[in-house]
Amino acid sequence: MIKGIILSGGTATRLFPLTATTSKQLLPIYDRQMIFYPLNTLVKAGIKDILIIVAPEHSGQFLNLLGSIFKNHGINIFFEVQKTPRGLADAFLVGENFIDNNSVAMVLGDNIFEDDLAEDIKDFKSGSMVFAKKVSDPERFGVVKFDENGKATEIKEKPKEFLSDWAITGLYVYDKKVVEIAKNLAPSDRGEIEITDINKKYLEAGELSVKKIEGEWLDAGTFDSLLEAGNVVKKKEIYKKFDPIINKAIEEFNAELKELAKKKLA
Ligand code: TTP
Repeated sequence: MIKGIILSGGTATRLFPLTATTSKQLLPIYDRQMIFYPLNTLVKAGIKDILIIVAPEHSGQFLNLLGSIFKNHGINIFFEVQKTPRGLADAFLVGENFIDNNSVAMVLGDNIFEDDLAEDIKDFKSGSMVFAKKVSDPERFGVVKFDENGKATEIKEKPKEFLSDWAITGLYVYDKKVVEIAKNLAPSDRGEIEITDINKKYLEAGELSVKKIEGEWLDAGTFDSLLEAGNVVKKKEIYKKFDPIINKAIEEFNAELKELAKKKLA
């Protein structure tokens, strides 16, 4: 079984002051909160158990939105608090009990994928699987270099000198070994435990599979990318291509809110 994690904490300093009052992942992307996009990525892949890792100051807001929205739809949502943003690899330490020796698909709470990656996730058996996208600013990302046969040969976090223009996106699928690997990571120079170091371990073991994606990949972490994400979602009608479970759950939630609002006015 594959479990799902959405890493949805962090400080979102690049979106101050918007994120002084709410979490980045609860900001709107067109007609719905950002977190529904990574949720969709996991639900489309048939994942039923999903852990949402949140920062302490926003935990109540996440619970209000997602605490019971899927209760009639067979999706189980769990929450954990990440006290401080220790790095992306911390997802597997905070989520250790939840993962419980299963494979896990982890997606960042601010990542939006146009492509449907469900089949790739469903086909995952062991080792690890990441998704790469060609970008014009690879120095901002963990990047992966391929040899002439398209095999991944090297991975580097935010390379100062050009290595490759293939960025590793914010969706990662690992087998159960990931928890032990994460436990043995040393913090990087910026004081975080890095998911790039996990990917390097799998690469060294010959157990990293990298899929190239063609469609839009957006991380809505800056004012410009937040705006762009909303525009792309509207233009490409990505909100219409959501898993029916999510659209139904949102519809029901909206109806409930309207009903409550009517009662308050009465
Ligand atoms: P980032 O965008 O790298 O960090 P951030 O969201 O804190 O923003 P900023 O750089 O503007 O301060 O994080 C990527 C995603 O991962 C985002 O959804 C937040 C989440 N995250 C955590 O939940 N915990 C962490 O420890 C880190 C580093 C990130």
